[in-house]
Amino acid sequence: MFEHLKALPADPILGLINACNQDDNPNKIDLGVGVYKDDSGHTPILQCVKTAEQFRTDNETSKVYIGPTGDPGFNTQMTRLIFGEHQIIDQNRSRTVSTPGGTGALRVAAEFIKACKGDVTIWVSNPTWANHHGLFNAAGVKVESYPYYDYENKSLDFSAMMATLANVGAGDIVLLHACCHNPSGMDLNVEQWQQVTALAKEKGFTPLIDMAYQGFGQGLTEDAYGPRLMANELPEVLLCSSCSKNFGLYRERIGAFTVIAKDSTTADIALSVVLAVVRSIYSMPPAHGAALVNTILSSEELTSQWHDELAIMRKRIAHNRQMLVEKLIVNGVDRDFSFITRQSGMFSFLGITPAQVERLMKNYSIYMVGSSRISIAGISKHNVDYLAKSISEVIK
Ligand code: LMR
Repeated sequence: MFEHLKALPADPILGLINACNQDDNPNKIDLGVGVYKDDSGHTPILQCVKTAEQFRTDNETSKVYIGPTGDPGFNTQMTRLIFGEHQIIDQNRSRTVSTPGGTGALRVAAEFIKACKGDVTIWVSNPTWANHHGLFNAAGVKVESYPYYDYENKSLDFSAMMATLANVGAGDIVLLHACCHNPSGMDLNVEQWQQVTALAKEKGFTPLIDMAYQGFGQGLTEDAYGPRLMANELPEVLLCSSCSKNFGLYRERIGAFTVIAKDSTTADIALSVVLAVVRSIYSMPPAHGAALVNTILSSEELTSQWHDELAIMRKRIAHNRQMLVEKLIVNGVDRDFSFITRQSGMFSFLGITPAQVERLMKNYSIYMVGSSRISIAGISKHNVDYLAKSISEVIK
């Protein structure tokens, strides 16, 4: 049965973890996978998480199944975190389930969309997170792209985006990144969110919002502007969230999938379909990460500590953007990289060629995705000089 198999290439993002780990160059720099790192290159466990873990160790009394919805406390806290004190909560028209990470949430969303409408198209930004295409294709959902990033001007091509979305079929799904667009770092501003929302209302497409970085852009509330607006204005919204980055819970695999329906009865019916999807894929989600997030968000003290720790991560990333641009200038690069400081969140494209990316990896042990997406958190005051000098040599 296996002899006909052909080996597949490593995942374009996750494959970089191994490649970088196996490199023994002491100067190597990992700008690949989107994980937060401190100035020593370490991805720390947040203090609020440590406290919540101790609390769990001391207080957990059973490992019995939790059921396909996951932890109800976590689901309620996540709905509040994402939407704030929102009318969808009073109207009881949202349903949230815990999922194995943001990717799990997206896969559940894909299967749910397929169950709602067999023959359906999802529109994703060009570019989008590399895994979106494979994930939706695997669920049998057709994927199309709308223009988004203007590679030449290093900006958002909003008019082209709107022109394409104006022709999207009623009933199609449009995937939007809530904040910290992965991979470009270019986000919609407030007016642009309003325009996309008005278009969704007019044309009848349903947004699926991918919110993997709440709090890593401008702040927890600011980053939720789009989802909150859409939930106000539209009868149906789907949202996938992740606690990997903002709680630093990567390997615990905890995220959530939220369905907002036009009313409470429809929301219950939709939830029953979501739960059938969950049962057929992984039965029920892991409990640990959800318990930690619930403990943190249920405690004023831990929530405030989390806000502080999140702000440190957010500010460090913003500072790294500034630092890289300055060091490129110091190293004699005359190409304008100032766009990096106008972007937001974990990623930017350097805008260099695949051959130059390859040279940075082979000759300088600097790892980034082939599209020249860099994870800004991997930059530090210790490696930024080497990074800027290497980039300047490669793009000469
Ligand atoms: C990334 O884009 O680097 C992260 O979301 C990690 C992943 O799973 O790809």
